[in-house]
Amino acid sequence: WKKLGLIGAMNEEIELLVQHMDNVTETERAGIVYREGRFQGKDVVVCRSGVGKVNAAVCTQILIDRYGVDAVIFTGVAGALDPELNIGDIVVSTECMQHDMDVTALGFERGVIPYERTSVFAADAALAELAYAASAALFPGKSKQGRVLSGDQFVASRDTVRELHEQLKGTCTEMEGASVAQVCSMNGIPYVVIRSMSDKADGSAHVNFAEFTVLASENSYRIVEEMLKRM
Ligand code: ADE
Repeated sequence: WKKLGLIGAMNEEIELLVQHMDNVTETERAGIVYREGRFQGKDVVVCRSGVGKVNAAVCTQILIDRYGVDAVIFTGVAGALDPELNIGDIVVSTECMQHDMDVTALGFERGVIPYERTSVFAADAALAELAYAASAALFPGKSKQGRVLSGDQFVASRDTVRELHEQLKGTCTEMEGASVAQVCSMNGIPYVVIRSMSDKADGSAHVNFAEFTVLASENSYRIVEEMLKRM
């Protein structure tokens, strides 16, 4: 990994990266600001994709084409789906899938993208292992590996949580990971998603999200920092 793309969707999720990087040059493409520089002795490009799958896809493709990154790490917050997870806990992706891809009316399983080879995009094993080791060291007993489900939806219902956990085997849910994962897969670029829980995607999610996004973003940032230290 010679040049790492580091993506967060919102300001809170990239703020600490931006504060801690050196030799920064800023450029803008498709309305997204890319900050090239050094972080923990590595060449990085840090950007805020904006929320949702379209923003994340455009951002990731630009990182690959125009900035030449050879790996992508997504850092940010998510809603917990696994009942064992608490606010602040960490999920490192083993794989990502879009929970809002629904062509069931034509007989495809929920989440399946018609006519594609796969709809479940595996994280890079080495990046995921490094991220999980960093996470387990910093947050022992509060780190999990699992499937990240993405959709253009802020999930805030216990029924949806149960469905996404039981039917689609999600560990957490957010709005960008599977999009980054698919674009990386289409380009043969390794990726991993790191998410700290801001909420439990239930009836209190909107309140918890507002209260815990800064803390959860910091947890996720600290894992990225530790990961790069160990590279
Ligand atoms: N990001 C953080 N919490 C979330 C939720 N409940 N649904 C979707 N994305 C999220």
